[in-house]
Amino acid sequence: MKRVVIIGAGLAGLSAALELAKQNIGSDLVSLQPSERAQSVLAEGGINAALDLMGEGDSVAEHCADTLRGGCGLADPAAVRSLTEAAPALVRRLRALGVPFQTEGGRLVQRNFGGQKKKRTAYAKSSTGKAVMTALIDETRKFEAEGLVCRYPHHALAELSVEAGRCAGALVRDTYTDEALLFSGPVVLASGGLNGLFPGQTTGTAQNTGDAAALAFAHGAELGNLEMLQYHPTTAAIPGKRLLVSEAARGEGGRLFVMKGGERRYFMEEIYPELGNLMPRDVVSREMARLDGQVWLDLTGLSGAVWAGRLPDLREELRHYLGLDPAKEPVPVSPGIHFFMGGILVDASHRTSIENLFAAGECACQYHGANRLGGNSLLGALYGGIAAAQSAASRAVERKGPEPVGRIPPEPETPGFPELLGGILYGGLGILRDGPGLSAALDALDALPADTLADAERRRIALGRAMLLSALARRESRGAHTRSDFPRRDDGQYRKTTVAALRNGEITISFRPIPEGGGADAT
Ligand code: FUM
Repeated sequence: MKRVVIIGAGLAGLSAALELAKQNIGSDLVSLQPSERAQSVLAEGGINAALDLMGEGDSVAEHCADTLRGGCGLADPAAVRSLTEAAPALVRRLRALGVPFQTEGGRLVQRNFGGQKKKRTAYAKSSTGKAVMTALIDETRKFEAEGLVCRYPHHALAELSVEAGRCAGALVRDTYTDEALLFSGPVVLASGGLNGLFPGQTTGTAQNTGDAAALAFAHGAELGNLEMLQYHPTTAAIPGKRLLVSEAARGEGGRLFVMKGGERRYFMEEIYPELGNLMPRDVVSREMARLDGQVWLDLTGLSGAVWAGRLPDLREELRHYLGLDPAKEPVPVSPGIHFFMGGILVDASHRTSIENLFAAGECACQYHGANRLGGNSLLGALYGGIAAAQSAASRAVERKGPEPVGRIPPEPETPGFPELLGGILYGGLGILRDGPGLSAALDALDALPADTLADAERRRIALGRAMLLSALARRESRGAHTRSDFPRRDDGQYRKTTVAALRNGEITISFRPIPEGGGADAT
């Protein structure tokens, strides 16, 4: 049987495996955690599709335009058009697979989400990711029974075999036994966001280490828009990570305020009367970063029916982690890193700059430009997995299982390294950044004792350095990248993709024009 190896068993990985199975091509699904524990399971708010079920006259063209506008002109218009065109059929397919999307009178309903004027987000209460993943895991089991999908949970990507710019397979290590397996053929990376570089500062799991992207970078893959880190405005610090207070809560009527002179000031509503609390995340987070004092999210106006029917898990989480009932008192919130728009640069067919290496989901840089709209990440992962699989299918190789190649002991980890690296990167790459801060972070990276570190740690430093250099090179403010020393957006010079590449041991940063096309206004 022809096979492809997929690194990552979250939504993008599962979606790729299912697409390959549909074409009777086998896949090996390698992941640190089983699918049930993937980050995708934690997605709360929903998935966007212009189904036009809410009587607002929604359209694919509007979904496409909102996504491009939200991304501040950095997303590829043709790719976004394909994504948004595919969305309605994908959501219908999920429903047919049993995802319990919210309905009224048997009809699917959609909710408001940030950066969009129409109700376009289909949802399953406040645990849409879990519902979608449950359905896809179930669907995949049929193909597992047929041997079309083989799972390798608790396995880590140890090495990519890349020669002369072509990927010939992946070496993976069983994290329990240290046994090493070599999977020959094309590789799809679906390894999620770069959370491991920012321990404790992201809503995403640190199990998404960023190591696969760092490895691809070390082998010459181009990375795009690394400076574009999405800060979600409503998160709360809890041990080990940031708790997400879903944008859905604002979609249902939640209001942000600060106290000024003993009075509540609903600052988003004052500054942005049209979209108010539902401005895109970059805008809300930036406004919050510029305010003095604690920001609160008032959800006390939401009805009992909304809490019970649409946001029950969120209420439970806030009770559990913050010890407060959001139906009765405001929730203290602050921005936290939520999504990496940047990552392994792929074209519209999800090909990376290394032949035979494909990428999809949050590890890839494709649809979201300088800022992702809420509800577009599940969509991007689902659709990206399919697109990557379609490209990888033609490269699939005839083979049985993987080849056992002995044992690889785990690399020793330097105590305190992730926290040290995370502190440096977070210091440089805050919501508001500037040249001196970025340069200081680069100097701090230089001062790390690289020769005493493990290879994977050195690769993470290179990835962090590429992020800082990308942010330093973009001397403007756009989307999630706000330079207080270059506060204006400069379309003439920077409406371009930031491309980071490692050439002869040196990181180079360049700017590549956005492809024309898609028939949509990309700005
Ligand atoms: O706020 C949220 O529920 C996040 C959704 C998303 O990032 O798409």
